[in-house]
Amino acid sequence: MQRSQKPGERAGCLPENAGETPKGVQNQMEWYETGDGVETWQEVLLVYNAALRQIETKMEILNEEFQHVHQYNPIEHIKSRIKTPESIVKKLRRNGLDSTIENMVNHVNDIAGIRIICSFTSDIYRIADMIEKQRDIQVMTVKDYIMFPKASGYKSYHMIVTVPVYLSDKTVDAKVEIQIRTVAMDFWASLEHKIHYKFEGDAPEHIKQELVDCAHMVSDLDDKMLQLNEEILELSHMQEVEREEREKERRRQQELENQIRPE
Ligand code: GTP
Ligand code: MG
Repeated sequence: MQRSQKPGERAGCLPENAGETPKGVQNQMEWYETGDGVETWQEVLLVYNAALRQIETKMEILNEEFQHVHQYNPIEHIKSRIKTPESIVKKLRRNGLDSTIENMVNHVNDIAGIRIICSFTSDIYRIADMIEKQRDIQVMTVKDYIMFPKASGYKSYHMIVTVPVYLSDKTVDAKVEIQIRTVAMDFWASLEHKIHYKFEGDAPEHIKQELVDCAHMVSDLDDKMLQLNEEILELSHMQEVEREEREKERRRQQELENQIRPE
């Protein structure tokens, strides 16, 4: 599995002054003691960064164990990011909420986000299942945009989970948005995101339609690749069985020869 960042780094979203209270946000943020016990912006960052690291480590362990048991890695790579303060404030405003720490923690579910990219659609459900089975992870919501793609053509499996972060004097359950998708779905989503951003959500109709067509091609490609992979696995299994049979036969012949050979 590749890491897209060095340990401790997050995908291009943390402001350079990440440790400080963000400029322009400071005045809008009131310092609240929340139900979760998170009090300051610094603590918010610390908790969400810790939550991301925990999920990343869990995924790396699952991937290594899977390689050990099944000689195969379901995860291609992982990307993670902390939402910028500016987009947290934007999201709160969009929902008619004041920019307080309490509102951030309670109403913005994607402050910490992790994206797990795998080769095949079947890996997505396998990974989601493994996440659900972890005792300290609570799954809050699941959105299956693979079974039910968005009108845009978007496909991905989304989970909002909480993971406990153990601080010196308290435990905080931090929310993390997990997006699981194939390499092909990720390729489509990043292009669609760029186009959406470029046209500020109002792309020309023919481009939107072409994106939907591309999404269908991506789905067909994912289906074909999965089918091909299953055929390859089946073939190599059959070859292995045949090899074992030949070896058994060779040993049987050898034993027979030994029995009839005169002393
Ligand atoms: P946000 O307010 O955008 O976080 O959406 P939401 O809380 O209603 O959740 P939803 O599951 O719809 O989307 C969460 C995230 O999935 C988004 O922030 C994007 O990263 C991704 N996403 C959802 N829809 C699309 C889409 O049509 N195209 C692309 N490229 N990404 C999408
Ligand atoms: Mg989001």
